[in-house]
Amino acid sequence: MSVRTAPLLITLTLFCLAVANTPKAELRADDRDIPAGGSVTLTCSVNPSSSGWKYFWYRGEKTSEPLTSQLSAGPIRVSEGGVYWCRGGRREPVNYTECSDSVTIYRIIPNKAVVTLQPNWTEVYNGERITLRCEIKDGGDTEWEYEWRTTSSEKPSNQNEHSITSVTESHSGDYRCKGRKKHTQHSSTDWSDPIKLTVSYNPQPVLTVSPSWLSAGASVTLNCRVKDPSAGWTFSWFKTFPHPSNMYYSYEQLPGSSSGTEQDSYIVHGQAHTAGFLCGAQRKDRQYTTYYSGIKYVWSSDIHSSASLTVSPDRAQHFTSDSVSLSCEGNSAEWRVKRFSTEDSDSSACYTWWGTMTGSTCNINTDSTSDAVYWCESGSGEFSNAFNITVQAVSRPDSSSFPVLLVVGLVCGIVLVIPLLVLFCYRASKGETFLFCYYMFFNYSNKHTYSD
Ligand SMILES: *[C@@H]1O[C@H](CO)[C@@H](O)[C@H](O)[C@H]1NC(C)=O
Ligand SMILES: *[C@@H]1O[C@H](CO)[C@@H](O)[C@H](O)[C@H]1NC(C)=O
Ligand SMILES: *[C@@H]1O[C@H](CO)[C@@H](O)[C@H](O)[C@H]1NC(C)=O
Repeated sequence: MSVRTAPLLITLTLFCLAVANTPKAELRADDRDIPAGGSVTLTCSVNPSSSGWKYFWYRGEKTSEPLTSQLSAGPIRVSEGGVYWCRGGRREPVNYTECSDSVTIYRIIPNKAVVTLQPNWTEVYNGERITLRCEIKDGGDTEWEYEWRTTSSEKPSNQNEHSITSVTESHSGDYRCKGRKKHTQHSSTDWSDPIKLTVSYNPQPVLTVSPSWLSAGASVTLNCRVKDPSAGWTFSWFKTFPHPSNMYYSYEQLPGSSSGTEQDSYIVHGQAHTAGFLCGAQRKDRQYTTYYSGIKYVWSSDIHSSASLTVSPDRAQHFTSDSVSLSCEGNSAEWRVKRFSTEDSDSSACYTWWGTMTGSTCNINTDSTSDAVYWCESGSGEFSNAFNITVQAVSRPDSSSFPVLLVVGLVCGIVLVIPLLVLFCYRASKGETFLFCYYMFFNYSNKHTYSD
């Protein structure tokens, strides 16, 4: 509600005061905006409706004077902006209804409204800050008020600028705006063309390491893949170190990548032990945000003294009934055992569902089958050798296959015997055996007929 309409409301209230229990008029407009050279239709009605009403139309502040020649029984068309209201009246002297609520109608002016997006990226990622702005072309020094229309779930307030500090998918949609002249006759720009805001998930890069298992002297190739490679990215490369006191890692940037590499791959030479890597990707047009991949491991079965893993019993294959323990040794007092399985899709530590950690030993929960790589991580930031361990179901061939064989045998028997019997009966239908067949097939339903 603008300052301008406040005194009007007061006059309206006084003027429209009606005796208790009189009906109230209702004003409807087919549009709030009058297109250039056009008009809008206003309809007044009285509720509860009854016959004989004529309608008195009012505009602006000349409250007591109805619009000339607008005493009518039907709708009227108006081509001027303003605040309109109406009331019904009948009989002589006229009994008036209560006035309708006022409706503001705007006349469309030629100025164009334009929505701009800052920064003007076509694709915006979750969490980024953006500003939508409504600009009026050739607006001069007129003061404007603004209105927004959007298909997203968040509607900007009536300002010319709307900032979102951290966009989410719910902000995606079309945005339009219009401007209305303040302090003048009710005139408005038309709706702007829509601008489309598309918010995408963070472009988390995906790291691959090759090979996964180290062989002496071989180098490791890291590859950082982004969804939209053509957008222009730089990459940074990190090695991880187990963090002593929490479940995370600390990172150290690999040599030569501190200012980012143009290449989406990086070769690590002379990697001898198990290690974890991750990569970061930065879009060149958004220098302030780096998106990080998950951690990928390379494993080595070579034992080194500062961190080693021993499996007991010492073999790779175990059964669901076995008790299997993994012990960490080396120059640290603090250990965790981790595993990676393609089924889990991410690494996890022994204190989760698959194991119980006691001191530096992890007892694997062998209730279910699994196939995973296990290793130790020390409080002093080291990885141990890694071990492939398979847990298989204990097989009991007799107890599991016996019922199946029995059922298969029975089914085959029945399927074979019935056609043979039918064939036999058909052939023998004239002889003595007919009675046998008759008995076979009809006995149950026809017991009495057969009794003699
Ligand atoms: C309306 O008019 C009728 C007579 O025409 C009168 O009896 C009645 O009191 C009037 N009502 C009001 C609210 O003025
Ligand atoms: C974004 O704005 C810059 C200048 O502010 C302009 O050079 C560039 O072409 C615009 N890009 C798009 C996609 O509109
Ligand atoms: C562990 O298993 C993977 C795949 O199953 C295999 O490629 C790798 O060579 C194994 N490593 C060792 C040390 O046996």
